[in-house]
Amino acid sequence: MNHFEYKDGEKHCEEVSLSEIAREYGTPTYVYSAATLKRHFEVFDKALSAVDRLICFSVKANSNIAVLRLLASMGAGADIVSGGELVRALRAGIAPEKIVFSGVGKTAGEMRMALEAGILVFNVESRAELELLGKVAGEMGKRAPVSLRINPNVDAKTHPYISTGLQRNKFGIPWGAAKETYRRAAEISSIEVHGMDCHIGSQLTETEPFVDAANMLTVLIEELIAEDIALKAVDIGGGLGIPYQEPGEDRPPSPAIYGEAVVEALGVLRKHSLQLICEPGRVIAGNAGILLTEVLYCKESEIKKFVITDAAFNDLMRPALYSAYHPISPVMQTDRSKEVVDVVGPICETGDFFARDRELPEVRGGELLAIGAAGAYGFSMASNYNSRLRACEVLVMGAEHAAIRRRETIEQVLENESIPAFLD
Ligand code: LLP
Repeated sequence: MNHFEYKDGEKHCEEVSLSEIAREYGTPTYVYSAATLKRHFEVFDKALSAVDRLICFSVKANSNIAVLRLLASMGAGADIVSGGELVRALRAGIAPEKIVFSGVGKTAGEMRMALEAGILVFNVESRAELELLGKVAGEMGKRAPVSLRINPNVDAKTHPYISTGLQRNKFGIPWGAAKETYRRAAEISSIEVHGMDCHIGSQLTETEPFVDAANMLTVLIEELIAEDIALKAVDIGGGLGIPYQEPGEDRPPSPAIYGEAVVEALGVLRKHSLQLICEPGRVIAGNAGILLTEVLYCKESEIKKFVITDAAFNDLMRPALYSAYHPISPVMQTDRSKEVVDVVGPICETGDFFARDRELPEVRGGELLAIGAAGAYGFSMASNYNSRLRACEVLVMGAEHAAIRRRETIEQVLENESIPAFLD
């Protein structure tokens, strides 16, 4: 459920019309609904309420500090993957003891920053990373809390680019090396074993892979406990998908169904009084945002009609990168007849499209479109390709709205560039 609905023939975000947003902030603009973000967080949290839990929002999905603040006020922690995301999470007011640090390539500098801040746990992905973290923490006179990210070799059955739990993926510690890496972690005096972690992929549309991964972790946890390597937490990662298509071909399980399956599979949590950590991103933010864009031109070739928008794949790259489907609807409801069009951006690449052969009511230049399900991995993956200025981000709460990121200026884009004297 989300709060982007037609009222009096015009699409609104909560109580604010999208035309008003376009007038005030221009286009392209990302528009987020606070009520939807809140609802998604509450529903997800409730789905896991049978166990002690910490929901760490995956900052990479939507890293705007206002979005993070809103989630922090509801009790969310953060799943970060860089020093930059650490700064964002802290600036947004997320307590360090609710921050987990994931990622396969943390640098010594990032480790120092996170140790200094006092984060909850590092999700460590290799023996080499464990050794470096031990060294860095030792030099700082600290103990680094660690969960080892295990690669359970489970097929997430999602797009290959966002599937992470298979042996051939770069992620996690191989199943066969898990126990010896735990033994090593327990032996390093500047490392404190905190828990076990896994994340098998993103946009999962079935519960089975989560259950399979949970079952694998359970076996390992019991074996470690038998060896007196005690854990405090199990992190099952993120990955629950959202419906992009209406009506959905790929309709994922609801958070309630997902929660029930995960809690049941992880009986080990209650048995050993472990905390469950989750790292959802998309399921919280995906359907809480749209990309608002204006149609610049319509044109026809011998075989196609193109709707050219002022947003491009630098603003939302999911269709170009993953052939992802995003719903598109006109901001003004219309009874014009439907036609089949390609919705494309202004960038000089054929990959710059939002939809291909999509049936839409006829649209004309100057009209507004809402590209849906764009609240996760939308702005956070945007670039300045073609020296395009990154979009504005607006947060709506009831009848209130505010720019939570102003549109970039060309001066900001050029800020770090210079022409060396030897070219003169
Ligand atoms: N935890 C870890 C360690 C992750 O790598 C990810 C996402 C998450 C949590 C959050 O997953 P979520 O709940 O959002 O599925 N750019 C792609 C998605 C990449 C996901 C990367 N990792 C897309 O637009 O579909």
